[in-house]
Amino acid sequence: MTEHPGGPLILAEVSLSAVRRNVRVFRERAGDARVMAVVKADGYGHGAVPVARAALEAGAEWLGVARVEEGLALREAGIRAPILILGSIGPEGALQAVAGDLDLTVFEPSHIPPLVAAARELGKRARVHVKVDTGMGRIGWRDFDEAARWMNGLRELPEVEIRGTFTHFAAADAEDLAHAQEQYRQFDRWVRDLTAQGLRPPYVHAANTSAVVSLPEARYDMVRVGIGLYGYLPNPGWNGRIAARPALRWTARLMHVKWVNPGATISYGCAYRAPDRRRIGTVAAGYADGLRRGLSNVGYMLVRGKRAPIVGRVCMDQTMIDLTGVPEATPGDSVVLLGEDGGERCTADDHARWTGTISYEILCGIAKRVPRIYV
Ligand SMILES: Cc1ncc(COP(=O)(O)O)c(C=O)c1O
Repeated sequence: MTEHPGGPLILAEVSLSAVRRNVRVFRERAGDARVMAVVKADGYGHGAVPVARAALEAGAEWLGVARVEEGLALREAGIRAPILILGSIGPEGALQAVAGDLDLTVFEPSHIPPLVAAARELGKRARVHVKVDTGMGRIGWRDFDEAARWMNGLRELPEVEIRGTFTHFAAADAEDLAHAQEQYRQFDRWVRDLTAQGLRPPYVHAANTSAVVSLPEARYDMVRVGIGLYGYLPNPGWNGRIAARPALRWTARLMHVKWVNPGATISYGCAYRAPDRRRIGTVAAGYADGLRRGLSNVGYMLVRGKRAPIVGRVCMDQTMIDLTGVPEATPGDSVVLLGEDGGERCTADDHARWTGTISYEILCGIAKRVPRIYV
């Protein structure tokens, strides 16, 4: 494809068949465990509603989001599957969450009174998952004895239904899995203690994308797959270990092409100087689209199946590339920022490596103003 598809100058095409395929790959790896499709942050930038629907079609049974508003947006789109709010909610979110039949993560005594009040007001039960912190150091009970006593107290409340308990791995993508294994051991002890006390809830869950690959023993009743749905692995070195493929292709139109003389400088700050005569292209993509400014003079885009290095600083709406090696490039061509073209590819892992971040941040960072289309 050399012509940029008509309409928008910049475009993210999301392949829902790739999402479905990735879900099936993880379902297979999950064994008997259910799959929760994590679609927070607007489906890691892919669009939460279409991704959620595709994931459910492919056999995911739960959805995970970070905030109440994200869960409500799925409900407003008509999605009826169970949805867990993975993050913390403030007391002000309780009423909406219970009204929206959203499952909630709880790890603080202060979470309960607003939930009980909301449940009474609505004549419903608040569905909760108790979070334990086994080494992530973020949210959750560290003291399991205290957590179990608290859970016992929760059981007495008719307004509250304990549906699950979970933890989150900090480093299940590491080459050295010692930390993840220690988290697993602690969580497993928690689960065994709950079982012994007759407190084990129906949904015990721990594994994220990495742990599905690296710690199959941590699958329990459900796995929470985020980045894997979108075709990436947290550790890019593990890409061969599971057959997930990127679902998002990001392109922008080549707007302008011209020759510049040796010594000519390109873009703000004159941070690039042409070493000889160069053919420079201007692409309709900038940091306001989520193309990171850290790519200035780093990395490449793909034009007509060839690599075109980024030259000069990435601007707010435009970025220049060196097309000297792509003489056939013409204004109107489609430039691939993320995706494949000919035999070449450029992935969010590449952008992440070039800018010192992770694929998650590249994908979530694709700006709202970039239209998403679903193919
Ligand atoms: C609690 C929780 N579970 C699961 C996930 C999914 O993680 P991943 O995208 O690495 O699969 C996240 C995402 O950060 C999370 O916060």
